[in-house]
Amino acid sequence: MKTCIAYFSKTGNIKMAAEYLAQKIGAQLIPLVDKTNYKGFIGFMKGGYKASLSKSTDLGSALYEEISKYERIILATPVWAGKTTPTINAVLNNVDFKDKEVYVMTMQSDSDFGDADKREAFYKEIINKKGGKFVALYSLAGTSPGKPPREEEDIISQVDATVTIV
Ligand SMILES: Cc1cc2nc3c(=O)[nH]c(=O)nc-3n(C[C@H](O)[C@H](O)[C@H](O)COP(=O)(O)O)c2cc1C
Repeated sequence: MKTCIAYFSKTGNIKMAAEYLAQKIGAQLIPLVDKTNYKGFIGFMKGGYKASLSKSTDLGSALYEEISKYERIILATPVWAGKTTPTINAVLNNVDFKDKEVYVMTMQSDSDFGDADKREAFYKEIINKKGGKFVALYSLAGTSPGKPPREEEDIISQVDATVTIV
């Protein structure tokens, strides 16, 4: 099945997971670039504020069309403010998910994955409302804000243990 992994990563944790999964299952990687400056404490506050209000960023229509060419779409993103990122909100709002199989892979500092069921319900509702088929959400453990990313082997073992896509 023609598969893409559209990912947004600020500090590199979910980028490693997306890159590993892409080569493991033979998926096309689509990096999502948010031009907003999220660096430092002010950037962290800005990111948390925008995420908490479910704000969306503009990624350009060509990118939305590119993602919608795939039959199976994997969205990969950090958890921000208990929710998703402005980048992934843009994808959720603008990509045509009709008849697509959609998976979500998230990365967060909370390794207990609190409220993952609420995030799953959020993605499921939006994607299914747009005619897509939400299949699963996979939660992975990243690092605390401001800390460097985890070791690659750690990320790889989490993907192998958690993600059931083949
Ligand atoms: C603005 C912002 C808000 C965050 N909010 C949460 C949160 O609500 N819960 C959580 O577990 N982690 C939260 N984090 C931590 C990130 O999810 C974590 O650092 C993740 O590993 C980042 O992935 P990345 O390295 O691919 O950017 C937040 C990080 C940032 C920058």
